[in-house]
Amino acid sequence: RKKVTIPTLQAMHKRNEPITMITAHDFPSAHVADQAGMDMVLVGDSLAMVALGMEDTSEVLLEEMILHCRSVARGAKAAFIVGDLPMGSYEVSPEHALQSAIKMVKEGRVHAIKLEGGAEMAPAIAKITTAGIPVLAHIGLTPQRQNALGGFRVQGKSTAGALKLLADALAVQEAGAFAVVLEAVPAEVAALVTKKLRIPTIGIGAGNGCSGQVLVQVDMSGNFPPGRSLPKFVKQFGDVWSEARRAIEQYRTEVKGRSYPASEHTYPMPKEAYTEFER
Ligand code: KIV
Ligand code: NA
Repeated sequence: RKKVTIPTLQAMHKRNEPITMITAHDFPSAHVADQAGMDMVLVGDSLAMVALGMEDTSEVLLEEMILHCRSVARGAKAAFIVGDLPMGSYEVSPEHALQSAIKMVKEGRVHAIKLEGGAEMAPAIAKITTAGIPVLAHIGLTPQRQNALGGFRVQGKSTAGALKLLADALAVQEAGAFAVVLEAVPAEVAALVTKKLRIPTIGIGAGNGCSGQVLVQVDMSGNFPPGRSLPKFVKQFGDVWSEARRAIEQYRTEVKGRSYPASEHTYPMPKEAYTEFER
């Protein structure tokens, strides 16, 4: 498979081919996403919850993100890899944002970074792109700002909210973002914003009118314990957790019952050698 680059993504967008993106947080989850043909792999800071068991994304550090980025970069050989700048690593100033972005590219081996925020982050986006690091913007529901937003709520539902979303989308485009994630916004708003932009929109909970889609891998593959509630926009395409549990339970049963390991799982020894050993 040919390496996906910014021009590849631009060409897809131009011919109206949906761009596919999924999160990965380590070598195996990156490898399988790459082999399954994903155009882009995102090392999302959602790994704070899904890989590290943290309460929310505000806890994960830049150094921790970088460790995961590096393992994803080893697993995804063709996909375009984007790393999330975590909360606290880019808000203070555009210089601060650029320093964190450079660190993530040099040490994390990603191709681009993502950061949350609209018009207010335009100077940071401009600073980072000027240094030659592509930026994926992220507007609408921005989980790092959940305390200010009052939780995980749909954004751009009112006329004023939709106008703000459009203004943010235009601002990040003008600042140089190569694409923008639209999270949890009404489908018709996302579709109109997509029409008004030159750059692709990557939707998550933003309907079918976006230029591409992104989902969190553990959510869409069902790699989480039963009973967890998923956001409305997630479609569960698999049941990886149940399959892992089934396999581990079967292993347990066979070890307890001494049916594993069977003879085909053991190394033979010449009989004479053993007889000699036994004496
Ligand atoms: O952290 C993440 O997984 C994300 C995507 C859901 C867009 O930011
Ligand atoms: Na994120």
